[in-house]
Amino acid sequence: MAITKEEFDLIRHFINDRSGIQINPGKEYLIENRLTVLLVQNGCENFVQLHAKLQTDASLGTKVIDAMTTNETLWFRDDSFAAALSDHVIPALVKKARTAPQVRIWSSACSTGQEPYSIAMILLEELKKVDSPPPVGKFSILATDLSPSAIVLASSGRYSQLAISRGMRPEFLERYFKKNGMVYEVAPDIRNLVKFQQFNLMSPFKEHGLFDFLLCRNVLIYFSDELKRQIYGKIHDSLNKDGLLAIGASESPRGYTNAFQQAMMGSAAMYRPT
Ligand SMILES: C[S@@+](CC[C@H](N)C(=O)[O-])C[C@H]1O[C@@H](n2cnc3c(N)ncnc32)[C@H](O)[C@@H]1O
Repeated sequence: MAITKEEFDLIRHFINDRSGIQINPGKEYLIENRLTVLLVQNGCENFVQLHAKLQTDASLGTKVIDAMTTNETLWFRDDSFAAALSDHVIPALVKKARTAPQVRIWSSACSTGQEPYSIAMILLEELKKVDSPPPVGKFSILATDLSPSAIVLASSGRYSQLAISRGMRPEFLERYFKKNGMVYEVAPDIRNLVKFQQFNLMSPFKEHGLFDFLLCRNVLIYFSDELKRQIYGKIHDSLNKDGLLAIGASESPRGYTNAFQQAMMGSAAMYRPT
């Protein structure tokens, strides 16, 4: 359904207020493509009526935001990032677990779970490699996302052939998945390492406590500069002094905050709080 300028502004401001996601002029098609079904299902004739309904219908609001999130993700996303995890980040966390009571990881825009499960698999591989490994119970991975449907899929740990074909390594598929009909199911030892929860990055982070490794990858790109600044600040305050931040390969905190210094992990840039 074609959207007018007035309707576009109403809906994009609603989305921005609730999620931080910016939809700039020129992206009218995004709202038309992703929300027309919801508009029709809810008996609305146009986007003004949909916007009016959004003022009183909280569950419709959740569905609109869910539809507007872009959940694009891959297993072991970016080769240099995956190598940094296997060769540097996870070995250092395993070393830390020998003395620290707990090692905490947060995948803060986890989409459908590929990111936290990839970390869990690399962690179990590392624990198999080292002598007298620390107990797996010392590690916890919190995985959160705004999108309720992404969290439901992630928590199920069940993936289609198409999802698996996007980056899964054959040896990990063999070791950590069971095929059940058309579906690949994550092994319980991987599934049990990850706790999924719906969470909006616009909210205060305090409830989650402090982390040793925090991932906020490929999500800040959707936000305004001001919101990026605020979220970098909250991430800084959520990291232990020796904690580490991973953002997307094309992202950088430079220009938004001085709260981090770059730390090269192999050929991948990551960040430590200053
Ligand atoms: C492109 S995916 C990135 C997934 C994963 N981090 C990766 O790099 O493969 C972006 C994710 O950010 C989530 N997202 C968007 N706005 C958010 C917000 N305000 N709070 C939390 N998550 C959000 C989306 O639902 C989506 O799953």
